[in-house]
Amino acid sequence: MEMGCKKYGNVVQYMCEKIFKGRFTSAMSLFLNSGYIGELVTDKELDYIAPYVKTAHDCLRSKSAQGSDFLGWIDLPECYDKTEFAAIKQSAEKIQNNCDVFIVIGIGGSYLGARAVIEYLKSPLYNNLKKDTPDIYFAGCNISSSYLNELLAICEGRDVSINVISKSGTTTEPAIAFRIFRELLEKKYGTEGAKDHIFVTTDRAKGTLKNFADTMGYQTFVVPDDVGGRFSVLSAVGLLPIAVAGIDIDALMDGAAAARLAYNNPDLATNDCYKYAALRNILYRKGKTTEILVGYETYATMFNEWWKQLYGESEGKDNKGLFPASVIFTTDLHSLGQYIQDGMRTMFETVISVKDPGCTLAVPYDSANIDGLNYLAGRDLDEVNKKAMQGTLFAHMDGGVPNIVIEVEDRSERSLGYMIYFFELACAISGYLLGVNPFDQPGVESYKKNMFALLGKPGYEEQKKLLEERM
Ligand code: PA5
Repeated sequence: MEMGCKKYGNVVQYMCEKIFKGRFTSAMSLFLNSGYIGELVTDKELDYIAPYVKTAHDCLRSKSAQGSDFLGWIDLPECYDKTEFAAIKQSAEKIQNNCDVFIVIGIGGSYLGARAVIEYLKSPLYNNLKKDTPDIYFAGCNISSSYLNELLAICEGRDVSINVISKSGTTTEPAIAFRIFRELLEKKYGTEGAKDHIFVTTDRAKGTLKNFADTMGYQTFVVPDDVGGRFSVLSAVGLLPIAVAGIDIDALMDGAAAARLAYNNPDLATNDCYKYAALRNILYRKGKTTEILVGYETYATMFNEWWKQLYGESEGKDNKGLFPASVIFTTDLHSLGQYIQDGMRTMFETVISVKDPGCTLAVPYDSANIDGLNYLAGRDLDEVNKKAMQGTLFAHMDGGVPNIVIEVEDRSERSLGYMIYFFELACAISGYLLGVNPFDQPGVESYKKNMFALLGKPGYEEQKKLLEERM
């Protein structure tokens, strides 16, 4: 197929051939296929943006640009606290043994990574599977009384442990949920007994939650100072709940460490991670202001949510930024598919294709063939899914929607760790290319200020008066 970016595409093709010859398999768990972008991005444009990518790379590595206090995630896959890592495994085992229901309390970056990884590697139906690990639910990520009441009902008559996660230690949503579940645990096990069921992940030294945990004697884990919420999945924030689900956190970290090594150079021709950042920046400048992350597996639904928060909170500021959206196909081909094919031409897609599904399921043969499906009899569902993907890629490309395809080896801990690091690093480079600080989130404060004022929190009287005048 003819590609807009031939020079860079050829390098990808070359690497791809190497993979299929089995040479680079241990080093590469992911590669980027730019063959479905069409003519919208040319080699010349990639040549033009290459020095800017190099500058972004240099700024990141020398910690000389905005947000440089929050770059701890770059080396986290190698330079993590090994003692704490061992304690995470130990606590995960304790939790597995002492409860039927494990409630993870947190919001934004304090819960999305864990939920994404658990659903991706285990299942969105994890709680309904036969297993020897506890059911896992998430709380503190909304203020819905219905949701919390339903969760409390689920806990009735069952052993419960909780992990409250908040870097600041002051976020309202998890603070409310923590109070509610702490009350439940103290009623169930007594104040002393509850201590065995409460695990706190927060700042190393400061904050309301840290003080509270120390006063009560709860087991605590650390959100590293230099790792922001949405970049924290590979710290205790994500790792404790992930380990409770029975996932191999060593392999997850290994995958991320391999990506860290693979994407350590600024050369666009060989660094797919940086190439992804460059392509999305070029597309954005050409009016493709929405990026849709596309998965073909239901288990990627929460991974998409994690990705949306990562990119939305990192790039959407100073009146700039791609709007991150997501779909799961073929499900959403029957809802948003029409819009993507025929609606406003302001979007591009980033498609994640998992090469090896890790399981098989054949379409059964039916001698009556009343439904006319026998042409599929005996064929694997993954083959059907991949053909649907191939057909959709061409259809959307023909409809004026460029597609970046990210091919992932399999659904393993290692491949997922690799992909997590790929997206985190690409996000940082993307933010610098866009000219924003990818590591702050000033916009999140506005709703909080108004909510506190409207609820009558002390210290917000002035804001309350201003809002009341507008009502
Ligand atoms: O990515 C971020 O920094 C945010 O989404 C935070 O994770 C979120 O606001 C929760 O903050 P905290 O962990 O301080 O409760």
